[in-house]
Formats: sequence, C-alpha cells, structure tokens
Amino acid sequence: MAFNKRVKIKSLLEGDFVGQELTLMGWVRTKRSNKNVSFVALNDGSSINNYQVVADPNIISEDTLKRITTGACIKVIGEIVASQGAGQSSEISASSITILGDADPEKYPLQPKKHSLEFLREIAHLRMRTNTFGAVFRVRHALAYAVHKYFNDKGFFYIHTPIITASDAEGAGETFKVTTLDLKKPPLHEDGSINFKEDFFERETNLTVSGQLEGELAAMALSEIYTFGPTFRAENSNTTRHLAEFWMIEPEMAFYDAEDNQDLAEDFLQYVISYALENCKDDLTFLDKRASEEEQSKKADQRSEMGLLDRLKFVTENRFERITYTEAIDILRNSNPNKKKKFQYLIEEWGADLQSEHERFLVEKHFKKPVILTDYPKEIKAFYMRQNDDGKTVAAMDILFPGIGEIVGGSQREERMDKLTQRMDEMHIPQEEMWWYLDTRRFGATPHAGFGLGFERLVLFVTGMSNIRDVIAFPRTPGNAEF
Ligand code: 4AD
Ligand code: MG
Repeated sequence: MAFNKRVKIKSLLEGDFVGQELTLMGWVRTKRSNKNVSFVALNDGSSINNYQVVADPNIISEDTLKRITTGACIKVIGEIVASQGAGQSSEISASSITILGDADPEKYPLQPKKHSLEFLREIAHLRMRTNTFGAVFRVRHALAYAVHKYFNDKGFFYIHTPIITASDAEGAGETFKVTTLDLKKPPLHEDGSINFKEDFFERETNLTVSGQLEGELAAMALSEIYTFGPTFRAENSNTTRHLAEFWMIEPEMAFYDAEDNQDLAEDFLQYVISYALENCKDDLTFLDKRASEEEQSKKADQRSEMGLLDRLKFVTENRFERITYTEAIDILRNSNPNKKKKFQYLIEEWGADLQSEHERFLVEKHFKKPVILTDYPKEIKAFYMRQNDDGKTVAAMDILFPGIGEIVGGSQREERMDKLTQRMDEMHIPQEEMWWYLDTRRFGATPHAGFGLGFERLVLFVTGMSNIRDVIAFPRTPGNAEF
C-alpha cells in the first residue's frame, strides 16, 4: 500500500465516515490521559479543526503513548466511531499508532498555551503549526486563488514580469542592487565610479519595485493583463504595513480610463473579500474571535468599532467613497486632529503628501468606509500618470482601507508622447534608457490604466492581523532575513 493513503481531517469533518477503517496523519496538538484511555487532538493543517484520536492503552503500547507529545507527528489507523464526548460528532478509535517524528517536550518551543505574536515571529519556521498562523496562511491561499479566478473569469492574461530589471518604475530610488561584481574590488572608471559594463548584465541592475512598466507593454498587445509577483523595496520603514519583499497584483488594461480603473478596482476588491468570506468560514470565525480578544487589550479610543467579519461584510456590501485629493485636503485641513495639532504631520496647504494618519482619518473617522482618492498633485506622483487638464494634477487613484490606509495605488497612464517625455525630462528620467517604454506611445498608443494591490495589505485586512510581518510566511524587513 502506498504510504500516503490518508484521509485529510477537513474531508473527514465534512463527510460521514462512521464505521470505516481509515488512516490519518498529522501533528499532535494536545494529549489528555486517564487510566483507561488517552485522547489526542490531531491537526494536519487541512483545517483549523483538530480531530480526536482515542487511544486505548490495551491496544497502543505504553512506549508509543509516551511519545505522543505536543508537536510529534503520528500516523493513526483505526475505525471512525460516533463520539461520546462533547465537541465532535465522530472520532477515530486507534487500532495502531506509528510515531513518524518525535518532538522532545523539553525542547519543542510551541506548547499548548498562548504564545505572543512577537515570540512566534522568532520561530517563524514553526509558527504555521499554530491555530492563528494556520488560519492566516489558508486565508492567504484562498485570496491568491481568488485573484487568479477573478481575472481569469474576466479574460485577463497572467503575465510574468522580470524580477531583475534595470529600471526603477516608481522612481523612488529604493531599489536593491543586483550584482556579481567583487564588492571588495569592483572595476572602476577613471573618475572612480563603478564600471557596470563588467557586471553580469553589463549594466547596473536591481530587484524590481513593480511589474507595471512591462505590464503596460503586454496590455498594448493582449489588452487586459495582470501580474502577481514579488516586488522589492529598500525603504527603511519599520512600520506594521511595510515589507522589503512583498507580493503585488498589477492589472493593466488598454481602453480603460480613470473611472473604468476605479470601477474595476472596487469590484475586484469586493470579489476577493467575498470569496474569502464564503470559502474560509472556519478560519475567519477563528480570526474574528482572535481579533476581538486583541481589541480588548487596546485602549478604548483605539478599538475599532466593528468586528472583523462585520468589517469584511461592510466592505463587500457598500460602495466605496470617491473623492479628489483637493476635496480630501479641505476635509483634513478643517478636521479636529488638524486644528488641535493631533496629527504628527499637520495639513497646511494643497500639495502636501498624505501620511497614513491622514488616510486613516478619512476612512475610519470621516467617511467610515473605503475611500478612493483621485487626482493627486503631479509633484507627489510617478512620471507615468496621465496629466489632467488643470496642469496641476494627475489621474491617480489610491484606495484607502480601514485599519490599513493605502491598499491600492494606480492611475490612468499618460499615453500622449509629448506630455510623457516632457514629464520625464522634468523628473530627470533618461528617455534613452526607456526607449522600449516610449515605443508603446510611438506605435499604436491608446488610453490605458492600471493599479497595484499590495497582496500582504489585503491579507492583513482580511485576517484582521495587525502586523504585516504576520501575514507572509518569512517576512523581510530592515535587519531581518532569517529563515
Ligand atoms: O502605490 P505603489 O507604489 O504603486 C505601484 O507600484 C504602481 N506601479 C502600481 C500600478 O499602478 N501598477 O504600490 C502599490 C501597492 C500599495 O498601494 C501598497 O498596497 C503596496 O503596493 N505596497 C507595499 N506593501 C507592503 N510593503 C511595502 N513596502 C509596500 N509598498 C507598496
Ligand atoms: Mg502608492
């Protein structure tokens, strides 16, 4: 018989297997014993729910029973029987138990008690075995699947854009260099600068900050595409919403203007969140409870008014508020925290960049729903955004979510060659290096638009976790690249 003829606990809980002889495999969460019998809570990761194994000391050897400790991996063969105890409708009555892997209780760091999220971050290699992280990563999976399903069903094509690139799409200069040069003795030009002609790619390269520019090239051929890949930013922001390595979803559409772009983004976000609500009920119910316990430990004025599940439903059932940057500045300027100097960055004049405290004020206090902010000053946005007729603003959109701030950034793109090159010159972006990007404006240009969704920020929102380090398996942040 093949080794892996096991039944997953998830299917066991969903079907009726009473009377059948089955094999289960999984990790021991807890064991309770009395003279006559041991009860083992088994989890195989397929579900947040454990399955009860009943081990009779007359059938299972004393040595085996001793080795069934929290964290150990076991194989159980037995009959599924109706359960006498409360909490489960059936259980497995073990006829044999094999220890697949011991976990020395003296040394195993995860014990059946509440560990802090900070501690679990230090043992990220084991934290997926906890209820919280199991739930987070199952929800993360469901969301990733929903992203692909949404776009596939709409006829978008998934494009894989390069991870190593010579451009800095966002122009923020926060890139990680990629090189094979000898760091101790790099080849130099006469003026002392590094000669990248001798580097692997014969030019200076970095990890991508966004797949957008290549995505635009694809949209100019396939008309509606999306990317979903890793992006890298060397910004030194040690916040609960920034990662140095994160995953971004970037749809890019020919024949879309700014409003079409906003409609798509809103529909897309509502779809993927509804998908999780429908398909991750057990995990989200657990996370809802977890989040409300965490809320209790916060000061009253920092608690959110809605529970996690209510918040998710609220977002899927209500239209997002759409306002311009100019309107937002007026609201913020006249807001209480601005007048009482409670904001760390006070809003004084039009043109100010919005900080997350402002974004969260708009969403959580003023509108109390997601907000699509449009038409930002061109000075604080990237070169590729389409210039509005006022000469001051661009057709940008940021989507702001409660508890998160910015979750999506996007725009209609500047398709007019003269306007685009003029803006590139103003921002000192060399046209020669971007000849391939400019070719799409030279040949068969059309209005087009797109946006980027930070996947971890979405997972953060849907799981109700409060730190972005807890929604990616192995977070990369300043000073942290363990595992
Ligand atoms: O607003 P950003 O910088 O936009 C772009 O990169 C565009 N090229 C997208 C496009 O139009 N195709 O980033 C998009 C989103 C943000 O709204 C945020 O959700 C997320 O990416 N993001 C981060 N997530 C985690 N850690 C970081 N350091 C992030 N920086 C941006
Ligand atoms: Mg942005």
